[in-house]
Amino acid sequence: MKKILFKGGTVVSSKGIRHADVLVSGEKIVAVGRRLAADAQEVDVSGKLIFPGFIDAHTHFDLEVSDTVTADNFDTGSKSAVAGGVTTIVDFATQNKGETLSDALNNWHIKAFANSSCDYAFHMAVSDWREDIRAELPAMFEQGVTSFKVYMIYDAMELNDREIYEIMAELKKYGGIVGCHCENSGIIGKLREEAISRGDTAPANHPKTRPDYTEAEAVRRFLTIAKAADAPCIVVHLSTAEGYQEVIRARKNGVKVYAETCPQYLLLDDSVYSAPFDKSSKYICSPPLRKSEDNRALWEALKHNQLNTISTDHCSFTLEQKRAGKDYFTKIPNGMPGVETRAVLMYTYGVKKRRISLQQMCAYLSENPARLYGMYPKKGAVKAGSDADIVIFDPKQSGVISAAKSHSACGYDPYEGVKTVGRIDKVFLRGRLVYSGGEVVLEHSGRYIARGKYNL
Ligand code: URP
Ligand code: ZN
Ligand code: ZN
Repeated sequence: MKKILFKGGTVVSSKGIRHADVLVSGEKIVAVGRRLAADAQEVDVSGKLIFPGFIDAHTHFDLEVSDTVTADNFDTGSKSAVAGGVTTIVDFATQNKGETLSDALNNWHIKAFANSSCDYAFHMAVSDWREDIRAELPAMFEQGVTSFKVYMIYDAMELNDREIYEIMAELKKYGGIVGCHCENSGIIGKLREEAISRGDTAPANHPKTRPDYTEAEAVRRFLTIAKAADAPCIVVHLSTAEGYQEVIRARKNGVKVYAETCPQYLLLDDSVYSAPFDKSSKYICSPPLRKSEDNRALWEALKHNQLNTISTDHCSFTLEQKRAGKDYFTKIPNGMPGVETRAVLMYTYGVKKRRISLQQMCAYLSENPARLYGMYPKKGAVKAGSDADIVIFDPKQSGVISAAKSHSACGYDPYEGVKTVGRIDKVFLRGRLVYSGGEVVLEHSGRYIARGKYNL
């Protein structure tokens, strides 16, 4: 069995940082400690940080949506992931109306199989709640799908409160957990219609027709449903200060609620939407970018450990695809890339700006998603017995984000030209070097990860 000894680095976990060597044998970490010696290939990592492989628990690769398909499939998306230090993604197997959950899961296995350069798991996005779907749930758990997403908006996906309640109550029986896209569909639908009929068709109308209270109302309603069902839940891609207040309120009322945010809701704001179409359309995502006050409130929440994960909602479309909405902002496919830049952005604008600690960065990007999505300690830890998913991070390097260097098929980067501190130096996936020197050096070695129950 091949052995690798990482010498002289600083190992990061949610609990602390320590100088330690890490010994890997085959696919597993076998020892972490001072002055380890072994008959192994030595990798000098002095001056570098050793993180457990990052986990992006919110990606959309190869998703058919808005009459098109995301620019990144599992091939390009997962290469972009490993270049960002991500060794595991949790993508959304998405049930189209009329399909079974098994159909959706098989479709996603076909998309990912032999194409992924990082390990992958699936949430199940439910769009059609029926009695036969209820009966399928045990089979999902048997196949390692233990988290589910429901949408309060989007014609193709939207469920009503009763359906969401039923799903939550049913999943609770199996130890499952439900994440929700919280936006008020009725108000947003009406505001969009009004904007179009006034001739307000430019991208700047996207955030105007999705005001922050439409997220906050939906968060409150979702958490009311969770309370009624007495079920644990996740508010995904939380974007507003007002929505965050609803999370806090519900926790005080005894709701077991976890919350995820994304770099775009921490670092970008709605001022970008006043730019000409080819620039502003790149930032059309839902929920939309908000105000700098919202950015600040979410950083503050992270500082105080009140949010649980930072994922990306990587859902990329080329500029050509975005141009489908040239005449009507409502036709712009929603989403942006992010899987490749998350870690370095969180290090630069989180850790270096002292908004979060290094330990918190590790928790938000690796350990917490591993626990919340039933993969810990196989994933999310640099510990004896864990998978040897290892990110060697060089804090002394700096860089500039540029689409030209990106591995995504998107063709642009929302953070183009942004200066960063720290660099992903090397990435190991189950003991094998997959990324080094700015290149993916081993492709398509990702495996499906059947997950256990949430445990955070
Ligand atoms: O605009 C976004 N976020 N698109 C991805 C789908 C979703 O709602 O997460
Ligand atoms: Zn969503
Ligand atoms: Zn999403």
